[in-house]
Amino acid sequence: MKPPPSITLRPFHEAETVFFAGMASDERVTRFIGDGQPWDEQTIQDRIRAALQQDPLDMVGTSRWFLATEAKQSVGVVVSTRKEEGIEIGYWVSPDHWGRGIAGAMLDGALSTIPEVYKTKELLARVDPANTVSAKLLTRRGFQLATQQEGLDHYTLA
Ligand SMILES: CC(C)(COP(=O)(O)OP(=O)(O)OC[C@H]1O[C@@H](n2cnc3c(N)ncnc32)[C@H](O)[C@@H]1OP(=O)(O)O)[C@@H](O)C(=O)NCCC(=O)NCCS
Repeated sequence: MKPPPSITLRPFHEAETVFFAGMASDERVTRFIGDGQPWDEQTIQDRIRAALQQDPLDMVGTSRWFLATEAKQSVGVVVSTRKEEGIEIGYWVSPDHWGRGIAGAMLDGALSTIPEVYKTKELLARVDPANTVSAKLLTRRGFQLATQQEGLDHYTLA
């Protein structure tokens, strides 16, 4: 059995815009995100600007993104946003790297980093019910299906 990939998570920088834009404009990546359509250039810029804004960590709506690298190569992004109920997380892996355990390693890193950043252990994720790989990633790590709203499964880790 192959060892899990060795992933480093660090804060996302503006310089990684091209890497993120490559994922956000790829319909394989956005299939289960939002309306399922690739993001246009303006949406990508707006989201990155909001993510880099560094609003106070206790403010609802504030975001922090993390770049995942493997041997210094960008392989994915973990996004996090403070909501009323806790910190919502999301994770995107570049399709060239799917199926190698990168998301699992990213999520493991996120589960130790994000509670420290926001000073709370209340984490949540919203998943399209058809996104079975994502649901498996979460349940393997102790998340439980809490509710279903607007067609999305809400998983929580308390
Ligand atoms: C969902 C996503 C993050 C998975 O990334 P990944 O690096 O390929 O996932 P992993 O290799 O860590 O696999 C996770 C688990 O799913 C399994 N898996 C991976 N690809 C699979 C496939 N095509 N079919 C069935 N199982 C699969 C793996 O075996 C692993 O299970 P394990 O814990 O038993 O080993 C990636 O496909 C992605 O970025 N998708 C687009 C964005 C997205 O949907 N994000 C989630 C939003 S909630």
